[in-house]
Amino acid sequence: MTHAAARAHPNIALVKYWGKRDEAAMLPAAGSMSMTLDAFATTTSVHLDASAESDSFVLNGAEDTGGAFARTSRFLDLVRTLAGDDRRARVVSHNEAPTAAGLASSASGFAALALAASAAYGLDLDERALSRLARRGSGSATRSVIPGYAVWHAGDDDASSYAERIEAPDLRLVIVTVDAGPKAVSSREAMRLTAETSPFYPAWVSSTEESLAEMTAACRAGDVTRIGEITESHALRMHAVIASSLPPVRYLAPRSIAVFDAALALREAGVTAWATADAGPNVCLLTTPAEAETVAAAVSGHGAVRIVGPGPGAALLPEDPFAGRTRAGDALP
Ligand code: PMV
Repeated sequence: MTHAAARAHPNIALVKYWGKRDEAAMLPAAGSMSMTLDAFATTTSVHLDASAESDSFVLNGAEDTGGAFARTSRFLDLVRTLAGDDRRARVVSHNEAPTAAGLASSASGFAALALAASAAYGLDLDERALSRLARRGSGSATRSVIPGYAVWHAGDDDASSYAERIEAPDLRLVIVTVDAGPKAVSSREAMRLTAETSPFYPAWVSSTEESLAEMTAACRAGDVTRIGEITESHALRMHAVIASSLPPVRYLAPRSIAVFDAALALREAGVTAWATADAGPNVCLLTTPAEAETVAAAVSGHGAVRIVGPGPGAALLPEDPFAGRTRAGDALP
């Protein structure tokens, strides 16, 4: 095969990944756990081109020659090494997440790229091998390969650091976009800073492994309250360790804190709502399917809201959705 297309979705971590123990191999300092979403897909096609001298990348209809292209091409180098094939590729990718959703697209992006590129280069990877490959593009992409709920085992080498599915109750996340702008400090940079400068970092790493063990037990037991408690406290611990870096980094804005307060008020009124936030100001509220509309209505004054649930893992597409539309500026499906 010389071309393939794949689709993958972003994920929101309930036990967060923050910090690497090996940056070159992309090994995390601790394990993490997430929900792969049923919305905001990234669709990516990879066409090998024996006559091209370099890779090329069209992202959301525009030719990219900057940082996103460089990361994509470096990732393709890995796939070429695995496949023993040095042909260059044309990559076309489209994110469904409106910029206004404020959701990072690196997880869905690298999960879709890992699958499309490995198939185009003739590698037949099982789910675990694909999860390991996606990890090399972006840590959180490790989990976006997996449908539903995923645990990423930290592992101690490339072979043992992968994500796999775990059973958990059917839950919803109400995404509250309080600010759609780009984040001030990339997660890569801020993770490095936290690991190098925060006196609390060792405690963050060891307590994350404890949180992950408690979270997997709560998921197995179907204990929604415990899942929520761990989700919110672990998110706040992550933001606390990030804020304890030097110079300090603070991702949560006053409007984000107001959504955490709204979650507490909802709980006091007997509604299931637990807050979490990634490396940015936007907040997700974890709740049950039956209560999702109530939670969404209660926080609609804080920003744009969107209810999402557990979604599919990375999947190959039978046809190239960009067929005939692979040039920059072409209309996208
Ligand atoms: O994979 P990255 O570099 O985008 O880092 C993701 C970090 C968090 O989203 C903040 C936490 C997580 O586990 O997804």
